[in-house]
Amino acid sequence: MALTTLEESLDLDGRLVFLRVDANVPLDNGAITDDGRIRAFLPTLKWLTERGASVVIASHLGRPQGPEDHHLSAAPVAARTSELAGFPVPLIPGVTGDVVWSALEEMKPGEAVFLENLRFDARETSKEDSARLELAMEWASHVDACVVDGFGVVHRKQASVYELPRITPSYAGFLVEKEVDVLEQLTSRPERPYTVVLGGSKVSDKLGVIEALLPTVDRLIIGGGMVFTVLAAQGHAVGKSLLEKDHIEIVRGFLDLASKLGVEIVLPTDIVMADSFSPDASHVTLPIDQLEHGPQGADALGLDIGEESSKTFQEAIEGSQTVFWNGPMGVFEFEAFSKGTRAVAEALTTVKGLSVVGGGDSAAAVRALGFADNQFGHISTGGGASLEFLEGKHLPGLEILGWQPPVAP
Ligand code: 3PG
Repeated sequence: MALTTLEESLDLDGRLVFLRVDANVPLDNGAITDDGRIRAFLPTLKWLTERGASVVIASHLGRPQGPEDHHLSAAPVAARTSELAGFPVPLIPGVTGDVVWSALEEMKPGEAVFLENLRFDARETSKEDSARLELAMEWASHVDACVVDGFGVVHRKQASVYELPRITPSYAGFLVEKEVDVLEQLTSRPERPYTVVLGGSKVSDKLGVIEALLPTVDRLIIGGGMVFTVLAAQGHAVGKSLLEKDHIEIVRGFLDLASKLGVEIVLPTDIVMADSFSPDASHVTLPIDQLEHGPQGADALGLDIGEESSKTFQEAIEGSQTVFWNGPMGVFEFEAFSKGTRAVAEALTTVKGLSVVGGGDSAAAVRALGFADNQFGHISTGGGASLEFLEGKHLPGLEILGWQPPVAP
């Protein structure tokens, strides 16, 4: 079944619309370091305000314990939304209650406000269905409709993502529509060769997606911190690099399965080994069978893939028609260890078919390294959400809008 989309919405003139977005942006001392998730919901916001709706924008930000976590106030997000939208979007200092209801009563058609961080109200993320429903009912009694455009949070069963759309006329925003359309191309009709590039720190976060992808992909490229568990599974010593010993056996199982399915697994052949986790750590590039043979011996840790590996990865990506990439190849935040991630990003920009950067750290990485969004087919705003989509998991925030994962043949 398909999503209920905005084009199917009723007359919005003068209606009060709750717009659930994912403006969970990275912050550094209160300053937004990547506003991609805010830019991504602007088309929906503008579409609604231009049709005369009054829009209550709502998002979570980080994982606060409560309103006492002032540093996670939505204030900078509201301010940036206002700058980018080109009209005022004041912050309402509350999630529910009189301060919110009286602000909503004063709104005129075409105006927008931003609620405080939704997670300041513990009911938003409560494990109790009744607590989430109670919060949703408070909103539902004050708004006419709900539009969900926070793709990054559709994998969460939370009051504003699931319960509110359940009890209010609800629609998918343009961002959610586009994300679903692109990710469905990957799950149901990828042009081949189809290559997935996985990185990031933990293999344990990616086990589900690896298992789901092995029967679908032609090639799986692995880098980043997670690769050391894979290298260890092949019998390599990895020094003090990130290693999840408990997962070595399961990774071995995946390697066997890949070979049975004829999936090509592409791993680094060299690694940049450093003497400490710091931007100016002294480092040396070593072949994977000699990672403990550098000046630091077994105390060295891998912080990036080496040059030879970068070339191999680039060739594998460039020869693909469809590429999905999630997770940096190294500690890209440190210039000295950003080359592998940069090489993968560059290769993605040359893909003739569909290239998708899968949210979170990879989206932040491509922007931090100076790439423009339009150099890629699509940059997903959802890290966890896009992985869970590819895994074929239930996504409560999409299913409540009428979407169902395709049934396996
Ligand atoms: C994300 O950044 O992946 C989303 O905003 C969801 O955030 P969460 O993992 O804290 O629920």
